[in-house]
Amino acid sequence: MDERKKKSNNSQEDEEKDEEKEPKTILGVFTKQQFTMICVAVGLVVLLLIITVTSVVLPINSGSETSKTMVPFTTDGDMLEFLLQNGEIQEKDGLYATWYHSANSKVETQKALESDTMILEADVNVQGHNTDNETNIPIMAHPPDVYSDNTLEEWLDAVIRSKKGIKLDFKSLQAVEPSLNLLKNKNQTGINRPVWLNADILPGPNVPGFWPVVNGTRFLELIQTKFPDVTISPGWKVLYLPPFPDVTYTKAMVMEMYTTVKHLPQRITFPVLAVMVRNGWPHLSWLLSQSSRFSLTLWQGQENPTVNDLLFVRDNTNPQRIYYDIYEPVLSQFKEAAKQKDRPRRFYTGGDIVDYFKPANSDGFNILWEKVYDQASLLSVLKESPGGMLVIPVTSGTGDVRIPVVEGSLPELPLQNCLDLVLASKNPWGIYLRVKSQRQLATSLHLLRKAYANDLLYHPVWINMDISLGVFNVKGYITGLEFVRTINQIFPYVTMAPSWPQEVLDQGYTPQVVEDMMELFQEVWQDVSLQLLAVHLDRSEAGIRIIQQSQERFSLTVEQRTRIEGLQMKSLTFFRNGTRHRTFYNVPKAVKGFVSEIPNKT
Ligand SMILES: *[C@@H]1O[C@H](CO)[C@@H](O)[C@H](O)[C@H]1NC(C)=O
Ligand SMILES: *[C@@H]1O[C@H](CO)[C@@H](O)[C@H](O)[C@H]1NC(C)=O
Ligand SMILES: *[C@@H]1O[C@H](CO)[C@@H](O)[C@H](O)[C@H]1NC(C)=O
Ligand SMILES: *[C@@H]1O[C@H](CO)[C@@H](O)[C@H](O)[C@H]1NC(C)=O
Repeated sequence: MDERKKKSNNSQEDEEKDEEKEPKTILGVFTKQQFTMICVAVGLVVLLLIITVTSVVLPINSGSETSKTMVPFTTDGDMLEFLLQNGEIQEKDGLYATWYHSANSKVETQKALESDTMILEADVNVQGHNTDNETNIPIMAHPPDVYSDNTLEEWLDAVIRSKKGIKLDFKSLQAVEPSLNLLKNKNQTGINRPVWLNADILPGPNVPGFWPVVNGTRFLELIQTKFPDVTISPGWKVLYLPPFPDVTYTKAMVMEMYTTVKHLPQRITFPVLAVMVRNGWPHLSWLLSQSSRFSLTLWQGQENPTVNDLLFVRDNTNPQRIYYDIYEPVLSQFKEAAKQKDRPRRFYTGGDIVDYFKPANSDGFNILWEKVYDQASLLSVLKESPGGMLVIPVTSGTGDVRIPVVEGSLPELPLQNCLDLVLASKNPWGIYLRVKSQRQLATSLHLLRKAYANDLLYHPVWINMDISLGVFNVKGYITGLEFVRTINQIFPYVTMAPSWPQEVLDQGYTPQVVEDMMELFQEVWQDVSLQLLAVHLDRSEAGIRIIQQSQERFSLTVEQRTRIEGLQMKSLTFFRNGTRHRTFYNVPKAVKGFVSEIPNKT
């Protein structure tokens, strides 16, 4: 509309100019009649211009599909980049990409093309699959249908004329090769959009090993040889069973997938069932972190995911690396909630505290640590500190030994009350439980588990205990195995923060005590932070050096329990030499001033 108005204003100006010239030209060159004819001609041209401009410009603005406006785009390109270039989205954020499902039959495909969704997802099989009449013609059908009024070729021809992205979901291995041949063929005249190829290639949650899946080896082989310019979407076959709501993607499933695809050069997006993502997050987030080419596509079946679960995923990921193939009304509710500026972040309890606190220079040194002694000290910290790791010593209650309480608190502060106060605070707090009594490990974990299940716990949680293991096998301490097993059974979404019994540290952290600790915790899937006491550092250079070489796996926390313990400049300098975003300082604030004077590593 604006375009049109501007045009007519311009032509008015032109006419005005013409009128100014009128006396000269009319007297000098033209007769009155000639002049009138010229005026009519000019008027006609202007009119024609207006008509042409409006008829060309307006339909484009109203979003009609025309391949003429398509920007050239490679089939293996990034979907968000594609949508951005075509003006479908304003920023590269998977939240804004929209999906149309099962655009299979001709009617459904047409509906999809006329809709404003951005990406078409459709199912491919061969005609008459598993019947006597099976052909190798790829058709658009979701099992049990093996016939369709729409072949893949017809489908591609229709979709390529639009501005929509393509995701093909292969329902049988037989359909893959002829489809890749078709894609190769169409590519010669230009597909001009990302193509995603999906197949369920591994058994996933609630699916027994013998269940038929698309042969992944063959699926990937065919892609590499026939048409490698795609994004691969390799999935797990999954069943959601309401009686088992906690079943999710396991470490073994995720590892198997990673092993299957890690050598591939393509972009890869892993389709995951949205309702299972929060529980499977430790493993799925691990998978995501293995390559910048990896993304996740959350999809849903019968069961709606909760808005909270979706926010949880969003709050723990880069917006460019998650797609949300979720139905209404949950999708709109989620988008609305995600946009709210001041909502508290739903942090993964087992996540990295540098990601949570975002300290200056991503330096673990800049994270504050506060100790909780009793309710009064807790309330004062919650009020006065900007946030940090709260070290909470836990032991058995004196009245009821089954209840975990804050050690030394008077009046006795039950851990539950302590957690309630922390979770009610708006500042960022990490919860560091120093479990002093073996029987309170399980009880404390149960409290955490309950808060997590009730959607209250979105803080980093560390579990510390002195443990007994290998060369530091000391009576009276929980064994390393028991510590790991209890956490995994009750509430595994934590950072494990084991420390050594005082009794074995006469020689400091020797290579031997360090190596035995690392050997056990190498195997756990959680993040692990080894807890070292400052008083022993000066005798421990060799041991610490070993840990510093594995800081990708193990973060380090140095702790000074009292102000008067000598913290040697030399050993601190040495400590400071480690990976800064993986080294933490649970020390009094006064000591921090002293540490900050240590010059930066070059
Ligand atoms: C296969 O095709 C034949 C002839 O068109 C038809 O009679 C028969 O029912 C078909 N068989 C199956 C299993 O669909
Ligand atoms: C999958 O395909 C590969 C390669 O073609 C083949 O060696 C393997 O036996 C197949 N696996 C199954 C379970 O059919
Ligand atoms: C698809 O077409 C593009 C552009 O012509 C070309 O560069 C690319 O190699 C083709 N890909 C395949 C797998 O044929
Ligand atoms: C710090 O690390 C560098 C190598 O990363 C090493 O050469 C140097 O000796 C270390 N400094 C101290 C004080 O350990």
